Amino acid sequence: MRQLFVAGNWKMNLNGRQGIELAEALKAEFGDLEAVRLAVCPPFVYLKAVADALAGSAIGVGAQNMYTESEGAYTGEVAGPMLLDVGCRYVILGHSERRHVLGEGDGVINAKVLRALEFGLKPILCLGERLEQREAGETEDVVSGQLRAALEGVSAAQMAEVTMAYEPVWAIGTGRTATREQAEEVHGILRGLLAGIYSAELAERTIIQYGGSVKPENATDLMAMPNVDGALVGGASLKADAFAGIIRAACAVSK
Ligand code: 13P
Repeated sequence: MRQLFVAGNWKMNLNGRQGIELAEALKAEFGDLEAVRLAVCPPFVYLKAVADALAGSAIGVGAQNMYTESEGAYTGEVAGPMLLDVGCRYVILGHSERRHVLGEGDGVINAKVLRALEFGLKPILCLGERLEQREAGETEDVVSGQLRAALEGVSAAQMAEVTMAYEPVWAIGTGRTATREQAEEVHGILRGLLAGIYSAELAERTIIQYGGSVKPENATDLMAMPNVDGALVGGASLKADAFAGIIRAACAVSK
């Protein structure tokens, strides 16, 4: 049985006061939640304040990126040990905005996954195809290439710390959600790849979130699918009531 995992990726949104208010609202309603795993991922500058606001609760904090080195002359970058130091447990890696807007390739993402694991951070590894790739029938090739590249050198033992997130690029911030059948199909492909690379048992216990225009209205449908183990939520994680609706949906369909 896999525990569902719902995480909010705030991206470059909310100021410090808004982030703390949101964290406090979530803590008040879900601070003791055990049925579903929860995390929020604020911008770097607010990580500590949000982690402090959530201290003593079951809600984890994640960063949206990190650099591969642990310290040194890398102006503007943030190291994994710094993230741990401010109370982070998770780090989102390979997000499509990092891949396509900020130019990160598979090699960099793989290096970040390996370093995050080395530092003791839990990666939320994102992958997904672009619209033109889906339309050209390349989805399976694209996601399998991304998965193999990102997990190169990651051991089976380390995989216990890795969450996967399928985020079709065409569904991110567009209001155009993948249908539950489309999500389930790709999640099944990813699980099959993990079974081939590692083992059926490891594939069975790996959490695979879906991300891309998840809202309270579609969350139940998506998360009720057998291979969809929660959600990585962008826009709808910025408002306490919308995010709470998604968390409640996860609780209701807990597998
Ligand atoms: P939206 O929920 O805003 O589509 O964003 C999804 C996402 O990119 C989460 O990482």
